[in-house]
Amino acid sequence: MTKLGLVGWRGMVGSVLMQRMAEEGDFAHVEPFYFSTSAAGSAAPAFGGKVGGVLHDAASIDTLKAMEIIITCQGGDYTKEVFPKLRAAGWKGHWIDAASTLRMADDAVIVLDPVNLDVIKAAQARGVNNWIGGNCTVSLMLMGLGGLFRADLVEWVSAMTYQAASGAGAQNMRELLAQMGALHDAVKAELADPASAILDIDRKVAATMRSADFPTKNFRNTPLAGSLIPWIDVPVADGQSKEEWKGGAECNKILGRPPFRSAGSIPIDGLCVRIGAMRCHSQGLTIKLKKDVPLADVESLIAAANPWVKVVPNEREISERELTPTAVTGTLGVPVGRLHKLAMGPEYLGAFTVGDQLLWGAAEPLRRMLRILLD
Ligand code: HSE
Repeated sequence: MTKLGLVGWRGMVGSVLMQRMAEEGDFAHVEPFYFSTSAAGSAAPAFGGKVGGVLHDAASIDTLKAMEIIITCQGGDYTKEVFPKLRAAGWKGHWIDAASTLRMADDAVIVLDPVNLDVIKAAQARGVNNWIGGNCTVSLMLMGLGGLFRADLVEWVSAMTYQAASGAGAQNMRELLAQMGALHDAVKAELADPASAILDIDRKVAATMRSADFPTKNFRNTPLAGSLIPWIDVPVADGQSKEEWKGGAECNKILGRPPFRSAGSIPIDGLCVRIGAMRCHSQGLTIKLKKDVPLADVESLIAAANPWVKVVPNEREISERELTPTAVTGTLGVPVGRLHKLAMGPEYLGAFTVGDQLLWGAAEPLRRMLRILLD
């Protein structure tokens, strides 16, 4: 049975991955070995009903080398440290990684098989063995719009994102909730009194958000609850943040196109914004189509692309009900709605999509890559 090494299985993405692997019966096809950076020698977990023995040392190249496949959700620092040593030691196994470190490497493929199975299969035939999960926003956009890209109808895309706290990490989700609680606490008495003045409440809320005691450490001292943060990740060139750069760079690579900004690539750009959702990223999209395609055809192409995408009619009630982080959180569904031609002209399409940042945005493509390798 295939020896599978699991690293970073205890963190947020790793926990979602373990849950999904158990739900899909993935453990039945492998012999799992659990690795730890801090607790080697203690008892391993028993996901999927398989007793895992003891935890192995995640820094031990010798132990890792015995694996046929390794999946890591341990993060970029671990990948930077261990991956080159493992390959230098002659390891030829498959490395499946959630971190961004290796994404743009020539010998790595960004995996999102409902969108790029052809790219994955071609790489397998070439002997590629580095399989990297994409940036969450990118994967979720392609899960939603894959049908338009597959039909080669997209001239360019502007993506304005509304990204959840989970994308910044587990501590940030906790901090968002702490901020919400602190705001409520500050005006609890006034809220209980129907005669209180809303502008007094608002003043107190603003003062609380601006106070030095407001819990903001994880969000780089910036309040998120009741506000937003219009910058995600470090600055790169051309005024972009790294999160914005990934949109163009990774989308083109996933689709098997020439590198972003070179001839034949699709321009994909926009502004990435953190908002106070828990774990669903949303995106408002402006899509320039290569020609005037009837809206009904656009909807059919989008809906037929994969089993998870769902077109939500561009109507108020159903959009409020089904096209929100609340409706989507914890599910694999990727609704696409608000579809309509924009005032700029018949080739300009407006769309809005939502997806769970920890499922299709992180864990799901990794476990599906595992199953492709095991087939
Ligand atoms: N970088 C993303 C975010 C999550 O900050 O929301 C990871 O892909």
